[in-house]
Amino acid sequence: TIKVSPSADGAALSKQQYGVFFEDINYAADGGLYAELIRNRSFEFNATDASGFTGLTAWTTAGTATVVNDDQRLNDRNRNYLKLTGGVTNAGYNSGIALKKGDKYDFSVWARGDAALRVSVNLADGTALAAPITIAVAGDTWTKYTGTLRATATTDRGRLTVSTPGALRLDEISLFPRDTYKGRSNGLRRDLAEKVAALRPGFVRFPGGCLVNTGSMYSYDGAFNYPRARSYQWKDTVGPVETRATNKNFWGYNQSYGLGYYEYFQFSEDLGAMPLPVLPALVTGCGQNRATVDEALLQRHIQDALDLIEFANGPVTSTWGKLRARQGHPKPFGLTTVAIGNEENLPDAYWANFLKFEAAIKAKHPEITIVSNSGPDDQGGTFENLWAKNKANGTDMVDEHYYNSPSWFLQNNARYDSYDRNGPKVFLGEYASLDAKFYNSLAEAAYMTGLERNADVVKMASYAPLLANIDNVQWKPDLIWFDGDESWGSTSYQMQKLFMNNVGDRVVPSTVTGGGVVQPKPITGAIGLSTWRTAATYDDVKVTRPDGTVIFSDDFNDGNADGWTAVQPRGNWTVTSGGYAQTTTDTEDTMVKAATVTDTDYDYTLKATK
Ligand code: AHR
Repeated sequence: TIKVSPSADGAALSKQQYGVFFEDINYAADGGLYAELIRNRSFEFNATDASGFTGLTAWTTAGTATVVNDDQRLNDRNRNYLKLTGGVTNAGYNSGIALKKGDKYDFSVWARGDAALRVSVNLADGTALAAPITIAVAGDTWTKYTGTLRATATTDRGRLTVSTPGALRLDEISLFPRDTYKGRSNGLRRDLAEKVAALRPGFVRFPGGCLVNTGSMYSYDGAFNYPRARSYQWKDTVGPVETRATNKNFWGYNQSYGLGYYEYFQFSEDLGAMPLPVLPALVTGCGQNRATVDEALLQRHIQDALDLIEFANGPVTSTWGKLRARQGHPKPFGLTTVAIGNEENLPDAYWANFLKFEAAIKAKHPEITIVSNSGPDDQGGTFENLWAKNKANGTDMVDEHYYNSPSWFLQNNARYDSYDRNGPKVFLGEYASLDAKFYNSLAEAAYMTGLERNADVVKMASYAPLLANIDNVQWKPDLIWFDGDESWGSTSYQMQKLFMNNVGDRVVPSTVTGGGVVQPKPITGAIGLSTWRTAATYDDVKVTRPDGTVIFSDDFNDGNADGWTAVQPRGNWTVTSGGYAQTTTDTEDTMVKAATVTDTDYDYTLKATK
């Protein structure tokens, strides 16, 4: 029986109830949302970013092409450049550079020397994809040259070649589609940005995640020994793109920072969403677990937080407001909320730093809402610890994260029913039910009804991660998938879209009696080991999908032991998948072997062990 009380006062839902969390994971930025088509455009890739990366990664050469790092460089923050006699070809991301017939593409390059530079886009076999252009480079000072190519064919396999009959120095070789989201220069890939926009997010949390609270907290200082693998520091990511010092990305690649803080703010504004930046708290997490002991460094980061508020909101006459205006946005971005730290699992060190950030920000900007941390995961030991501190402190809002099985989401629907109504508000900054089946999306939807019922406490929620390049996946499940020219949403994307496009104004209280919660058990009775026998009569062992398809089998009759051994006493087999476990007890003497099977179609790992 469902009883609805329309006249009772339910919690009000806000425009920010649901949003998105963008992190540069799974090549979500370069080669993804950031529309630049040239990979390693400034020749800064380096083995620190990822094993095997060099200044010529993604480039092939015909002639003499050398990556040089000397005092002739473009600027102190863009150290390498290319000395070229002959030609170089860039392969782009995924299968190649995506071009659409009839569309315009803006080419640009910084160059020095006196020689012609020919620019063309072709297939690998040389077939032209646009009429080539020739640029006359003149003079031995770094100058930016531009040109436009119009695609004569549609492809996802293009290559860009620049060549010269003379000798030139080149840097920051760029090719951008004119057709970006909202037509912004240095903008975003339209199909991906539109998929995010279709969710109608109320906020954008960025730029991480582990991206924020890992790596060196020291900044790029223009010196020769600058730290690579730096934490994500917003000042590295603003200003002209050729002055943004590239960096190792925590997720194992290079980040150009072409998509930086200015672009995040602009994107949030274009979406009509609240920007929600996350700043490092000077305590590294995500497996690194170190706290800074350098007080001057901590104070510098606190100043960076204040400067960020000035960059977003300050007048054009202020130092950082002036930079925002120079980048093209004299009007303030209207920043209201900042988060300090991510999944902090050194709670005492984090807390000491958080209080300093909070005091400094509140002293200068009492209007800013500050989001604190709950720890790495509510299943972890630090959770209670940090929540207690946040409550005692009267913190504005606390960021919780959890990735869990569908059954966890169903069983914990009432999680926030008992939260202290007078305590800090909750920002559920990251969550997803592990695996990517429709069933997972249903479990998330059921859980979201619990978030809405508690909208007086849970003020914001975002599924994570948002984007994944199909060829470069570090984490799944993800909401939106893409390759060089196509993108598609997961079932969870559709579910989020449904909820995010239909946020009500107010919860109508209701109660349910009778019935019961149906607990799903997708493995039980569906996936199991089929037949195994005693040593004398054994034949096969099989693991099957729910539809009966065999995804693992071993034939005992082939006369090959294949690593199986006969054991006594009798034992148990366990098959685990997506957070579920099914155990079967042997009734006969047992043949045993550990086997791990990854079933890509179903996206789970099965493990059969004794
Ligand atoms: O969303 C992927 C990662 O999950 C985030 O970087 C981190 O905060 C969490 O552990």
